[in-house]
Formats: sequence, structure tokens, C-alpha cells
Amino acid sequence: MKTIEQQTLVSFIEPALEHVEDNQLRTALQQALANQEPALRTIESVFEKIGSQNWTETSFKLIFNAWKETHLKMLAIYGLSCRMQRMGLEGDVTKEEQHLLFLAAAKNAETSYEDLGLDFDGGTHTELYHNLAESFVSDDSWMLQAFSMPEAKAFKTYVYRNMVVAPDIQTGLFTNMFSEIYNHAEYSIAINAFNRLIDEHYEFTPQQKTKATTYIFAHIEDETELNHFTVVIDALNYYTKATNTAIDYTLAQNTFETYLQKLATVFEALDQKIM
Ligand SMILES: [Fe+2]
Ligand SMILES: [Fe+2]
Repeated sequence: MKTIEQQTLVSFIEPALEHVEDNQLRTALQQALANQEPALRTIESVFEKIGSQNWTETSFKLIFNAWKETHLKMLAIYGLSCRMQRMGLEGDVTKEEQHLLFLAAAKNAETSYEDLGLDFDGGTHTELYHNLAESFVSDDSWMLQAFSMPEAKAFKTYVYRNMVVAPDIQTGLFTNMFSEIYNHAEYSIAINAFNRLIDEHYEFTPQQKTKATTYIFAHIEDETELNHFTVVIDALNYYTKATNTAIDYTLAQNTFETYLQKLATVFEALDQKIM
């Protein structure tokens, strides 16, 4: 576990990139991160800020509403797997191609096992997220439209459309892949922000603190998000093999960069609104 000071998102992403066997994919990721340095700085500074002071009830509601919109993409994951399964079932494909498409769909779906609570008695990440939010606000009104920001909504729509609607399935796979590696880094800095917030401004019992932070911690322990990142790479490899297509590295890099730009827009807007 890193210390509180000088945490960058890239410092959590870079070690994972060593495990990317495909050099061109690794380069696309590195280039995207380098080009979107300002977006990464924006996001880091907002987490730093969130951890640094106590917030009004309204600000907390805005924070939890917006942050949720940038995560919990189970529906989009399901949609993307359905698309690949449908190609296998209905497309003009050989038995071997069908098998590969089903494997691609299955590997992609693997990114939602934890979110669904498969090994946690059905306890979903949505429930854990609500525990986090409701540790800081007095009721569940943070979920209402009144606390929703257009930028956050737009981001959620962007992710959904990339994964479920975009003509090229690779766009969806790159989106899911990048969100996993990015989330791994984001949760790693978010855990420190929330620990700091709790330790400096709240008098939670150890149980209350655990209840509040389990959502974030669940994504870091056992390297959950890192494993999700690698299973989407597997899905991409099965998919391109099944369809006899090459990995589109330019599309990959563009998708990674757009993801970060749009996400930074959410954090910028949030930064303007909270006090
Ligand atoms: Fe999750
Ligand atoms: Fe994940």
C-alpha cells in the first residue's frame, strides 16, 4: 500500500502495463496516458480535495451521485457480452469461430462476477456503494435527479453506447478494458482520500469505517480490477481471432484518450459545484 503523499493514477497503472504481452497495445495505453496527463492531474486533484475537508450534505450528495455514474457498468458489460454471443448464435460463422465468440463473451462477462456478488452471497457492489454514500449523507436522496450532473450522466451514456451500440465491438472491449485498469488506479487513490476524510473529520467506530470503505477496498484487494483488465484482453484476443480481424491500435488509443477526457470533464464539473 502506498503512502498518502504524491499519489498519481499513473503510478498505479504502470506496474500493470508490464504484464501486457502485446507491445502495440501497451504502447497505445502508454501514449494515451501520456497525452492525457492534464486529465489525469484534474482527477487526482479532485480526489485530493475530497479527502482534505468535510463537505456539506449537498456536496456529498453531488459527489456520490456523480461518482456512481462513472462506475457500476454491469448493464453495459452484459450488453457487450450479449452482442458477441449473438454473433456466435446468429452470425454466419464456423463451429470454431462460434466457440471463440462464446469465449470472448464469457471472458468479458467475467468482469462482473464481483459486482454481482457471485462469491459473496449475492451482495452486490451497488449495495456496497450505497453503504459508502450513506455513511456520509443522512438519507438516500443522493440518488435523485436533483443531485445528478449532466456531465456525469453524459459519461455514463458514453460508456454504455461504446459498449452496447458502437458499430465496432472492439470499441466496447477497449472501453471495458480501459475502465478496469483506470478504476484499479482510481480506487487506489480514492481509498486514501476517504480514509483521510474519515480519520480527520469523523469519529467513526472501526465497524462504521469498514462499512463505509468496503466498496472501495473490495476493488483493490485481490487485485480485482487488475484481473478484470487482463480478462478483457483475453476477450479481445478471442474476438479478433473469431472475426479474423486485426486489433485496431489506433482505435484503442483514441478510445482510451476519449474516456479520460470525458471523465475529467465530470470531475471538473464536480469540482465547481462542491463546497
Ligand atoms: Fe465493482
Ligand atoms: Fe472491475
